[in-house]
Amino acid sequence: MTVPTPSPALEARQLHHAFGPATVLHGVSLSVQPGEVVAVSGPSGSGKSTLLHLLGGLDVPQQGEVWWAGERVDTLDTQARAVRRAGRLGLVFQHHYLLEDLTILQNVQVPLMLSGTGDPQHAQTLLKRVGLGERSREMPGVLSGGERQRVAIARALAGQPAAVLADEPTGSLDRANAQRVAGLLLELAREQRAGVLLVTHDESLAASADRALHLLDGRIVERTGEEAAGERPAATLFS
Ligand SMILES: Nc1ncnc2c1ncn2[C@@H]1O[C@H](COP(=O)(O)OP(=O)(O)O)[C@@H](O)[C@H]1O
Ligand SMILES: [Mg+2]
Repeated sequence: MTVPTPSPALEARQLHHAFGPATVLHGVSLSVQPGEVVAVSGPSGSGKSTLLHLLGGLDVPQQGEVWWAGERVDTLDTQARAVRRAGRLGLVFQHHYLLEDLTILQNVQVPLMLSGTGDPQHAQTLLKRVGLGERSREMPGVLSGGERQRVAIARALAGQPAAVLADEPTGSLDRANAQRVAGLLLELAREQRAGVLLVTHDESLAASADRALHLLDGRIVERTGEEAAGERPAATLFS
């Protein structure tokens, strides 16, 4: 008997996507293993956000397949995808879309309520881990940008997802806050063995990933360790 190989946390198979006549993705394949952190970089307009939208099931590819934890999801309808997403994925985007009428704790509990699984206590534990344990009953409106992004990270991990998708999660933060937020995201994801696909322009953040990919002309180019190291600034984030 052979031991079954665990499914990737997240997988794209030959994604093609165009907006009108402009093809943005020309057959993108990638996979992220449980506990693995993969960084994606690429010039502005190269399709990084489009790729994350497709991988997150917010849009469906014109061709190709999207798999979450061993299940193909691009063929499901919007409602079914939303339920699967709540149970299996965490999303952290640059502009932390918090629900302003819910408390901070309720925001973090949203994925748990949608998926009907998971431990509600975990939400409070995560808020404590991101340094906001005492703020759980406040409303998001009182928080700074960095604090809001820390709530978004706690929310992304609350449902113990197979994978977290992060699109320039520190792009709107100053350097000190960016480092803190990125550090928390990677630390918590690695602890929970969630795979992470992280779009970032920050070379030191990309260097702290297990693997770095580059999106160029609609295709994925894997960067070698040497290339990635050559672009690394002298002082790295997590050295
Ligand atoms: N909803 C959309 N409708 C039309 N064009 C879009 C849409 N979303 C993105 N694009 C175009 O697709 C290309 C890739 O965009 P995007 O994925 O946002 O790139 P990146 O995140 O790498 O900057 C750009 O040329 C952008 O203008
Ligand atoms: Mg983008």
